[in-house]
Amino acid sequence: MIELRELSKSYAARGPAVQGLNLTVASGEFLVLAGPSGCGKTTTLTMINRLTEPSGGTVLIDGVDARSSDPVSLRRRIGFVFQDIGLFPHLNVAENAGIVLRLLHKSPAEIGARVDELLALVHLPAQEFRGVFPATLSGGQRQRVGVARALAASPRIMLMDEPFGAIDPITRDGLASDYRQIHERLGLTTILVTHDMTEAILLADRIALMREGRLVQVGTTNELISAPADDFVRAMMESPRRRSEALAAALKSGRRA
Ligand SMILES: Nc1ncnc2c1ncn2[C@@H]1O[C@H](COP(=O)(O)OP(=O)(O)O)[C@@H](O)[C@H]1O
Ligand SMILES: [Mg+2]
Repeated sequence: MIELRELSKSYAARGPAVQGLNLTVASGEFLVLAGPSGCGKTTTLTMINRLTEPSGGTVLIDGVDARSSDPVSLRRRIGFVFQDIGLFPHLNVAENAGIVLRLLHKSPAEIGARVDELLALVHLPAQEFRGVFPATLSGGQRQRVGVARALAASPRIMLMDEPFGAIDPITRDGLASDYRQIHERLGLTTILVTHDMTEAILLADRIALMREGRLVQVGTTNELISAPADDFVRAMMESPRRRSEALAAALKSGRRA
C-alpha cells in the first residue's frame, strides 16, 4: 500500500508544484494519475521514490515512511519507467535488462536465467533479442526492454511516467494492454502517469485527476463520470467520448473523402 499524506513540493523561487495531496493506493491496484501538462504529475510520482524530495508531508510505503529508507535501496524496490527510457547504447538487450542484477552482484547464471524470463514477460523472445543492441530496436521494443529492466529486481511497486507517450498509437495500445496483463500476472501495484484520458480510462482501476498541483478527485471511471466533483472533472472525463463522437461525425459527413 502507498499512502501520500499532505504531500507538497515547491521548487525554489517558484509557486507550489504540488499542494496538500492525500491519496492511498491499495496493494494490487492500478492507479492512473492524470491531468493536464504541468499540473504536478511527475513531481508527485517522483516524490514516491525520492527522486524528488518533498517540501512537506509524508510518503508511506507499506506503512513505512519513505524518509527512513535509503533512496538507493528504495529505488531498487520500486520499478520506474519513463518516456524515452534511455537504454545504454553500448550494452545489448540482455545486458540492459539485467543491469540492476549486475549491480546487485548476482551470478552470471542467475542473471541469464532471470533476463530470459523477463524478456519472455515483455514479449521479446530471448533467443531473438538477447544479443541485439538498442539502436536497431523500434521505440516500442526499447520501451519493452525498459519495462523488463524495471522489473528485474522483482519490485512489488511500479511507477510509470508517460511510459508510452513517445510511441506511435498502434504500438502504444499493444504495449499498454500487455503491461496491464503483466501488472495482473505479477500482482503489482502500479501508478501510471498520463495526460491521455483515453489511456487512463482503458487502463485504470481508479483515476486520480490533478489540476494545478492539487488532487481534484479520485475514483473509478464510472464514479468520475457519474458524479464529477466539478466542471474540470466532467470535461476531462467526457473528452475521449467527445473526440470519438467528433471523429464519427467527421467520417460520416465524408470529410475524409
Ligand atoms: N526541477 C524543477 N525545477 C523547477 N520547477 C519544476 C521542476 N520540475 C517541475 N517544475 C514545475 O512544477 C510544475 C509541475 O511540473 P510536473 O510535475 O513536471 O508536471 P506534469 O508532470 O503534470 O507535467 C510545473 O510548473 C513545472 O514547471
Ligand atoms: Mg510530467
